[in-house]
Amino acid sequence: MGSPVAAAAAFLFLFCALSLLPNFAFCMTRHYKFNIVSLNVTRLCHTKSIISVNGRFPGPRLIAREGDRVVVKVVNHVANNVSFHWHGVRQLRSGWFDGPAYITQCPIQTGQTYTYNFTITGQRGTLLWHAHISWLRATLYGPLIILPKRNESYPFKKPYKEVPILFGEWWNADPEAVIAQALQTGAGPNVSDAYTINGLPGPLYNCSSKDTFKLNVKPGKTYMLRLINAAMNDELFFSIANHTLTIVEADAVYIKPFKTDVVLITPGQTTNVLLQTKPYYPNAYFLMTARPYFTGLGTFDNSTVAGILKYEHPPNQYSNTKKKLFKPTLPPVNATAFVANFTKKFRSLGNAKFPAKVPQKVDKRFLFTVGLGSNPCPNNTTCQGPNGSKFSAAVNNISFALPTTALLQSYFFGKASGVYTTDFPTNPLNPFNYTGTPPNNTMVSNGTRAVMLPFNASVELVLQGTSILGAESHPLHLHGYNFFIVGQGFGNYDSTNDPANFNLVDPVERNTAGVPSGGWLALRFLADNPGVWFMHCHFDVHTSWGLRMAWIVLDGSQPNQKLPPPPSDLPQC
Ligand code: C2O
Repeated sequence: MGSPVAAAAAFLFLFCALSLLPNFAFCMTRHYKFNIVSLNVTRLCHTKSIISVNGRFPGPRLIAREGDRVVVKVVNHVANNVSFHWHGVRQLRSGWFDGPAYITQCPIQTGQTYTYNFTITGQRGTLLWHAHISWLRATLYGPLIILPKRNESYPFKKPYKEVPILFGEWWNADPEAVIAQALQTGAGPNVSDAYTINGLPGPLYNCSSKDTFKLNVKPGKTYMLRLINAAMNDELFFSIANHTLTIVEADAVYIKPFKTDVVLITPGQTTNVLLQTKPYYPNAYFLMTARPYFTGLGTFDNSTVAGILKYEHPPNQYSNTKKKLFKPTLPPVNATAFVANFTKKFRSLGNAKFPAKVPQKVDKRFLFTVGLGSNPCPNNTTCQGPNGSKFSAAVNNISFALPTTALLQSYFFGKASGVYTTDFPTNPLNPFNYTGTPPNNTMVSNGTRAVMLPFNASVELVLQGTSILGAESHPLHLHGYNFFIVGQGFGNYDSTNDPANFNLVDPVERNTAGVPSGGWLALRFLADNPGVWFMHCHFDVHTSWGLRMAWIVLDGSQPNQKLPPPPSDLPQC
């Protein structure tokens, strides 16, 4: 991460209103500028040019307080089209600034500018920002830190220091070439060469020891680690040797704290953990490592990223004895039972100040299958996907095709015709034993279909994993909302018996959650944010294959229930 000076220089504060009311009734606008420029970076003895924000990798921190307005002016100086997503920000009536390319905006083309402008309402904790077009988020990502309002405190002991820990994925090749080749041949994309912590792969890779993230700590203090999984295609286990972590927040919502030695974090998830350091100077270094959880059939990057936790001796107390090095133990790569057990521990804090507003009644019910599939190989070509076909992925067997214009513009200006339809199926059209022996025909259909929801509809959505071409966990991300995870299980969802076990009291509230490998996840949310909202697997390879869809939430009748018109600089396709 860059120096604090650079971080401080990256933005300036502007008071947007200074009220004379007692307390702290003022809000603030935080201005940032993102210059998209190329940058030469060397990792694993490979030097390559990457696309960066302001010449930094990972990108700069955005910091705001709950209630602040954030204004980010993006200027695109590279040849690629770009767009940016403020992952997890609710974007209440500000859907024009959500960022997914061809969903809420056309991309920002070379030489062009777009100013994102949104207010952070009712959220506090850690989120992330990332590019939202093709695979550019491989290098375009950074932390989005939301502090409590001024004069408000954390519902846990104030940490001595806060440290963002971003997990990423590094390719020696150009990630854009990797996905382009995969989409052409129909095969799975080449896997990454390393995982990274704050951009650094660490000592367990060849030619990488000097690129190791070091966390220097003092004894007897509480540190808050802001964990962010910005990896492209991998859920990660994370642990610090000989230290227990206390999880206090997930996706910018406080949870009931719990202790764990190992964290599982999916791409798109963020979580704050407290690290209590030992009361003395241990004569040791402690590795912090992360490596994937994976149950699918394809290949994956099975390597381990490591950083080092170091207790800093005051200069006069330096010990000459050789320090020991401790390594954490992580679960096996396919530890599905561990994952299920771990994810069930998350509960909303759910107190008077931070209530869990889980919808108690349901207006609209949906069952969506999520999983892999295939598309036929085009005539006169050969493909390297399953049985000579091309890999695909789908929701309710529909592989979502991105339009060539932005859905939100088409919707807002009443120009749906030829761009999208609103007949996305409520339930699988051809039910089968989703988690049993897969059907012989694995072909998907292709289209740009959305679900239309009336304003304030209370939605229950069951995401059912399939075993087609291998059962694996899919970290589903919903834009524009948090959802409550009311239930989860293995096998096929049973609409008669499973709802009896739903947690409608203190379910965790998130924006991204793994659909269990060979199982299902039940979510509820209130559709109180008008706009067009993308929902997709946060494995970029699955998103690229079509595991994505869109919800259209209609305006309500009141003026404050309507999506305002777009800003004048909204990019055009
Ligand atoms: Cu972080 Cu649509 O993604």
